[in-house]
Amino acid sequence: MATKPAIPLILGSVRPNNNCDGLASFIIDQWHQKISSESDLPSIVSAKELMPPNLSLPIGPFEEPRLSHGIHAPEEYTTPEVQEWSKIIRSAPAVIIITPQYNWGIPGQLKNLLDHLFNEWNAKPFLIITYGGHGGSKCAEQLSSVIQMGLKAKLVCDPIQITLPKEYISGEKRVSRESKGQDDAFLLEYKNNIAVALDALINAIAPKKAE
Ligand SMILES: Cc1cc2nc3c(=O)[nH]c(=O)nc-3n(C[C@H](O)[C@H](O)[C@H](O)COP(=O)(O)O)c2cc1C
Repeated sequence: MATKPAIPLILGSVRPNNNCDGLASFIIDQWHQKISSESDLPSIVSAKELMPPNLSLPIGPFEEPRLSHGIHAPEEYTTPEVQEWSKIIRSAPAVIIITPQYNWGIPGQLKNLLDHLFNEWNAKPFLIITYGGHGGSKCAEQLSSVIQMGLKAKLVCDPIQITLPKEYISGEKRVSRESKGQDDAFLLEYKNNIAVALDALINAIAPKKAE
């Protein structure tokens, strides 16, 4: 039986001991709680895990000799990493990005991941979640422009902006990867907005499922 393509969850941080992995687990857990009774909906899987085990996500500089705009099949890309990335996004019903703001903008590795493809993104439903000391608002603004104006994709709703408490930025605390939000009380206030955003995502990929 063919498996349904997953919704890739793109993580904007690749640093060790980050907050991104914990926030990603929290989002995936919220999705599972929501879709438990709707098992024909796709799962959300970290984009890294969707790549073959021997290949990394193309987070490095764009080195393709041709513009992605003129490429219409995965095998036209020159590296196996970008070919696989193209296949994943081509078959994805939607895409979710969870990312920190770095210096008032989009982390470079995330921008590279987006820049490696073009036609694959067109009309794809996107959900953006940013975070930082002030919700990652500058990153959310920039990413919204890149996705809508640059990549011709569509946002299912306004970006969700999560403000990290100080101890998660300048202190030792990090969002837990295991506790599903229970160790991180500040996440409680975002649960409702995340649920609404996930409903918008469901609506975009399977309109008949939304209420
Ligand atoms: C390179 C870098 C730049 C940052 N720039 C900002 C910023 O512009 N605004 C902000 O609120 N926090 C900023 N921060 C703090 C991050 O919000 C915080 O460290 C967050 O945990 C980073 O996400 P991560 O831990 O998942 O990598 C920055 C952190 C780093 C590492």
